[in-house]
Amino acid sequence: MKLHLKIKRFNPEIDKKPYWGEYDIEVDEMDRVLDALQEVKWTVDGTLALRRSCAHGICGSDAMRINGRNRLACKCLIKDEIKNGQITVEPILGLKVQKDMIVDMEPFFAHYRSVLPFLVNKDPLPENGRERLQTIADRERFDDTTKCILCACCTTSCPSFWARGEYVGPAAIVQAHRFIFDSRDQAAQERLEVLSEVDGVWRCRTVFNCTDACPRGIEVTKAIGEVKAALRTGIIA
Ligand code: SF4
Ligand code: F3S
Ligand code: FES
Repeated sequence: MKLHLKIKRFNPEIDKKPYWGEYDIEVDEMDRVLDALQEVKWTVDGTLALRRSCAHGICGSDAMRINGRNRLACKCLIKDEIKNGQITVEPILGLKVQKDMIVDMEPFFAHYRSVLPFLVNKDPLPENGRERLQTIADRERFDDTTKCILCACCTTSCPSFWARGEYVGPAAIVQAHRFIFDSRDQAAQERLEVLSEVDGVWRCRTVFNCTDACPRGIEVTKAIGEVKAALRTGIIA
């Protein structure tokens, strides 16, 4: 089938402002949007810049706005996205465009680092010397937020983040949630202090764009609500 692909192009080294690149290519309806972008890059215009690695929804590197919604290009089938023979593709919002689909991810990862996204436990290792055991229920408590692949679809779909890039953003809160509710961890209070600051969880206005955008199906807004509740009540349960 024929596809008219509109791609927002911008190379700050030579372009004064972004413009729409328009490409007519042959695709299979079961191809992914990533396949179409690669077809353009490999056969029409090799200067098109985008990130991708696994091509199977695991690495999180090809987040972009597809028909106005944040998605992973490798998880979107052409048949589900095409409208009147056309698909539009733009870079995610709220982060500086370096070239075409490639944005500067450093502010996103700075927010991620700010919530201590690793297990903290200063107790000596258990007798068996291997594992800190927990019950199935304790493990289940934070299971949903372990699925995050740090793609930034959530944070860059959030109006609060667009308005103020200092907002820590839903992805960092999801990562904090993953450790705050882990019975083996001992740094929940430090993370909650970061998240109680002016650019922490209270910037979330419960818009739900993040939940809609998450390619892993994580209940992002629910996780944010649980962190807010822990801050309000002082109870981590
Ligand atoms: Fe991506 Fe979902 Fe993680 Fe956000 S919570 S970074 S949308 S995987
Ligand atoms: Fe933004 Fe999600 Fe909250 S879109 S406002 S972080 S519910
Ligand atoms: Fe890895 Fe899409 S290329 S998630």
